[in-house]
Amino acid sequence: MENYYPVSNPTLNGNEVKYAIDCLQSTWISSKGKYINTFETAFAKQHDSLHGIACNNGTSALHLALMSLGCNAGDEIIVPTLTFVATANAVTYCGAKPVLVDAEEDTWNIDPSAIEKAITENTKGIIVVHLYGHPTNMDPVMDVAKKYNLFVIEDAAEAHGAEYKGKKVGSIGDCGTFSFFGNKIITTGEGGMITTNNRQLAQSMKKLSSHGMDPSERYWYPQVGYNYRMTNIQAAIGYAQLENLDWHLSQRKRIASLYNEQLKGHPSLVLPKEADWAKHSYWMYSVLLPVKTRKERDSIMADLLKKGIETRPFFYPMHVLPPYEDKRKGAYPVAERLYVKGINLPSYASLQEEDIAYISTSLLESL
Ligand SMILES: Cc1ncc(COP(=O)(O)O)c(C=O)c1O
Repeated sequence: MENYYPVSNPTLNGNEVKYAIDCLQSTWISSKGKYINTFETAFAKQHDSLHGIACNNGTSALHLALMSLGCNAGDEIIVPTLTFVATANAVTYCGAKPVLVDAEEDTWNIDPSAIEKAITENTKGIIVVHLYGHPTNMDPVMDVAKKYNLFVIEDAAEAHGAEYKGKKVGSIGDCGTFSFFGNKIITTGEGGMITTNNRQLAQSMKKLSSHGMDPSERYWYPQVGYNYRMTNIQAAIGYAQLENLDWHLSQRKRIASLYNEQLKGHPSLVLPKEADWAKHSYWMYSVLLPVKTRKERDSIMADLLKKGIETRPFFYPMHVLPPYEDKRKGAYPVAERLYVKGINLPSYASLQEEDIAYISTSLLESL
């Protein structure tokens, strides 16, 4: 197809090639080398945090964070039902149980007012997810966490550079976890990062990511660890991407503004909101279609695909997936409605004004 618009497409227009070649020429291609520390330090700084721990993806970032915060078998961890499956899976890897909470209408994130009801004597922590780049309303989450002595992980896989009341996401809870998969705001191909202001936690996560070896005694493993390391080449690409983070974020903002302008006239299409306390990073530009069923949504998506426009439905809520099924009727009404109506439109830095005009006109025609 001549004009094909995928949902995402990385832009590698900085020093990515130069730094990757530097790794190859220096032969530092594995998980040691100067770019690891450089990337960790710079990423942490960019996200208002003291420590950054690079790892091989956003899922292992979550697993490392959970283990280091003491998540064990039998514990319960509160998780939004509307998220990517990795959030819940990382809890399961620890032998713990994800306890699902519904979404809120405007931000599509976990409903903070529903968290307290989900707490039991086994609850150990809360994972919030800054879905599609919009930060979670953190103050009420932190309040309830303090009241019940729970840890808070911010799953910021989709929200690099987003802000809550002027603070970067990933710097508010005990730690933040990020993904650098190829479709993310900045990418290392595959990769992840944890941010924290807690030095002890940082040391524990770093150790667990490298087989759990005692840093002062080679081949001494006081606990079972993992190989979740990032390679120097990935860190080199990540560092180059990070140098341009502000540019990447400005492009997402530009795209969101263009879509908002093109789509605002439709009476019943719901455009993404940005709370007045939020800086949205617009990983995905997403809309809620005026439909009542999945079938209607899918037929609009199929129509757009015929015009060369890829779209994605919102994630299945966790409570409908076999490992996390919860059949209580009406327990998650908001997430269910969002799932039926929500789609992600092409959202990547190299989209031009005429591309957005074409995609928007095509969507309005399909409606
Ligand atoms: C909310 C969320 N959490 C975790 C992850 C996992 O990241 P990765 O794919 O790098 O393992 C993703 C990935 O897309 C995600 O969207």
